[in-house]
Amino acid sequence: MQSDSNHLSLLQPHNRHTFDAPWFDAWLSEHQNQVEQTLDAFMPKPDVSPTDLHQAMRWAVLGGGKRVRGALLLAAGQACHPSIDLATLTSLNAAAAAVELVHAYSLIHDDLPCMDDDILRRGKPTTHVQFGEAVALLAGDAMQPLAFEWLAQLPVAPALIVQSIQCFSHALGSLGMAGGQAIDLISTGKIQTELELAQMHRLKTGALLEASVVMGAIITAANSKQREALKIYARAIGLAFQVIDDVLDVTANTNQLGKTAGKDQQDHKSTYVSLMGVERAQDFAIELYDQAVEAIQSFGEQGAALRGLAHFIVYRSN
Ligand code: IPE
Ligand code: IPE
Ligand code: MG
Ligand code: MG
Ligand code: MG
Repeated sequence: MQSDSNHLSLLQPHNRHTFDAPWFDAWLSEHQNQVEQTLDAFMPKPDVSPTDLHQAMRWAVLGGGKRVRGALLLAAGQACHPSIDLATLTSLNAAAAAVELVHAYSLIHDDLPCMDDDILRRGKPTTHVQFGEAVALLAGDAMQPLAFEWLAQLPVAPALIVQSIQCFSHALGSLGMAGGQAIDLISTGKIQTELELAQMHRLKTGALLEASVVMGAIITAANSKQREALKIYARAIGLAFQVIDDVLDVTANTNQLGKTAGKDQQDHKSTYVSLMGVERAQDFAIELYDQAVEAIQSFGEQGAALRGLAHFIVYRSN
């Protein structure tokens, strides 16, 4: 246990897992850079008209974020297909950029005054604070189809593109992320049952994380056994991700998070912390980590980056 001591510090009393893989931090930062470079190359340039819209889109997606969704897609691809050819690698990189682009759009809209009304994101003013609400709204609108345009052009078999698009679009719609966000709005100020809360979190956050993993498997033409194992893994870490997001809202500070700490309680959000308190929420995330790691045992060494990401998700500090 050396590489991830930062991620462990907050959860020290509950840490039941050591993760003896000093290579993982380097793996993550290499893949974060890869995603960043692809996004930078693919996004419309800031001097292309309408410039304020393109600048807002670039503001939202470039130069920040942990890139967990992109990294998950790349790690799933590597797990299913360790000797990747150039076309598959190009496709994985483009798809990783696409999931991060859609994630960034979801953050723009999540931060709007009519949603969570947040002014700070990734350590910078939110897109609507910087560019105004109307441009922020349109930037989100434009980012979503742009991600699909990138997917439509992947240099893989057309059937794999169609499957990726089907998986991605389902994850984002009313039975996925948008639906989860709608449930979040109507649940604010209410007490949800644990089942309702899990369902909301699985939709608003889990769905995109799950789709990211599954798209890595689709693009590498994974077999059904691999896909099934990855779905179980993704379902567990998808929920764990939002449980820890809820925990960090109360255990971390604004500087660490790059977004306003303590906001959930201030807004009377229904979260795992409001339902069960910090410690039980942390323990629950750790149970989900165990489930995720167990699900991908059959991948052996090929699943090492996925195991690293599961650990990162549960023991992260921002
Ligand atoms: C924040 O996601 C929003 C949630 C779905 C909880 P991340 O914590 O992945 O945000 P970035 O991309 O690292 O900024
Ligand atoms: C965001 O959940 C979920 C989506 C963006 C779809 P939160 O509202 O908890 O995310 P943060 O805490 O603002 O990043
Ligand atoms: Mg929200
Ligand atoms: Mg929010
Ligand atoms: Mg949150």
